[in-house]
Amino acid sequence: MTTPTFTPRVFSGIQPSGGLTLGNYLGAIKRFVQMQDAGMPTVYCMVDLHAITVWQDPSDLQHNTRELAAGFIASGISPEKSILINQSQVPEHAQLGWIFSCVARMGWMQRMTQFKDKAGKNTQNVSLGLFGYPALMAADILVYHATHVPVGEDQKQHLELTRDIATKFNHDYGVDFFPITEPVIEGAATRVMSLRDGSKKMSKSDPSDASRINMTDDADTIAKKIRKAKTDPDALPSEAAGLSERPEARNLINIYAALSEQPVDDVLREVGGQQFGAFKPLLAELAVSKLSPISSEMARLMADPAEIDRILARGARQAREITVPILEKTYEIVGMVR
Ligand code: AMP
Ligand code: TRP
Repeated sequence: MTTPTFTPRVFSGIQPSGGLTLGNYLGAIKRFVQMQDAGMPTVYCMVDLHAITVWQDPSDLQHNTRELAAGFIASGISPEKSILINQSQVPEHAQLGWIFSCVARMGWMQRMTQFKDKAGKNTQNVSLGLFGYPALMAADILVYHATHVPVGEDQKQHLELTRDIATKFNHDYGVDFFPITEPVIEGAATRVMSLRDGSKKMSKSDPSDASRINMTDDADTIAKKIRKAKTDPDALPSEAAGLSERPEARNLINIYAALSEQPVDDVLREVGGQQFGAFKPLLAELAVSKLSPISSEMARLMADPAEIDRILARGARQAREITVPILEKTYEIVGMVR
């Protein structure tokens, strides 16, 4: 079988299930913007169908979807350069998701650590959608024949599953139709940790607001959260090796490196030997200078939700020019009478 070459295309998504955090920004959105600005064709998505795998209040979901769109745009995603959509307005995602539910195996899904984490002890009472979610995620990507997917570290396993689904589909039907997607997990902050516990991921669903920096936090709140961030009593090391047993220190240094776009070694050369009492104000100042222009732009955009809705409707039309032919061809391969 010859391997067709797929034209590079970037796809990624974020759930509109709460506000954006610094983890989303550094782990995902910053890379979205870089890939867009490098001139690659890019599609970025508010994955509202994923969000409802756990209960969402309908009016909150609407608000969060628009706010996430505002966050994307305020961070530098241009609706002129990227296709910006919410998932439910492009029905081919869900349609291909069904086909992939019939390709993915139960055993593959049962290995997904995110499901195990989210379901916890509650495995019998979570939604079927939460379990099947990675098949829909594979469809989000492959319905565009996307070749590159920028994400944080926590999505690596889902992207491996996406590759397994593409491989099995191609094999079962004897085609080379879906590309084997490359994850793009890069930078100093692919896994930003909670400010309260260096062993837990910073997450919009953590019950403690002090554990995360929200993109909509004002300057005082950001500074206060950083000042109160959990640390240890030692001074900062001058080399990265000195961070290996110090998860909280490592997290703050990684955040600094990612925000200032410097390698960790360069940051440590600058701040090594300092106590946290001196370093935290520097980090707070840097975070505020990077985040407050974004949050004020988000507030400006949110004042005109109709404009956001127009952008998403236009994005959906552009997206469907890509997804409709790919879904049609998939149905034909599978043997659906058209
Ligand atoms: P979610 O908020 O779970 O929809 O995640 C959206 C994107 O942000 C995904 O690419 C995640 O990998 C990334 N992300 C979420 N939380 C973090 C974090 N704490 N550190 C790095 N990346 C993250
Ligand atoms: N699963 C991702 C998350 O929870 C969100 C997501 C859904 C996604 N579909 C995607 C990310 C496709 C990248 C590509 O963060």
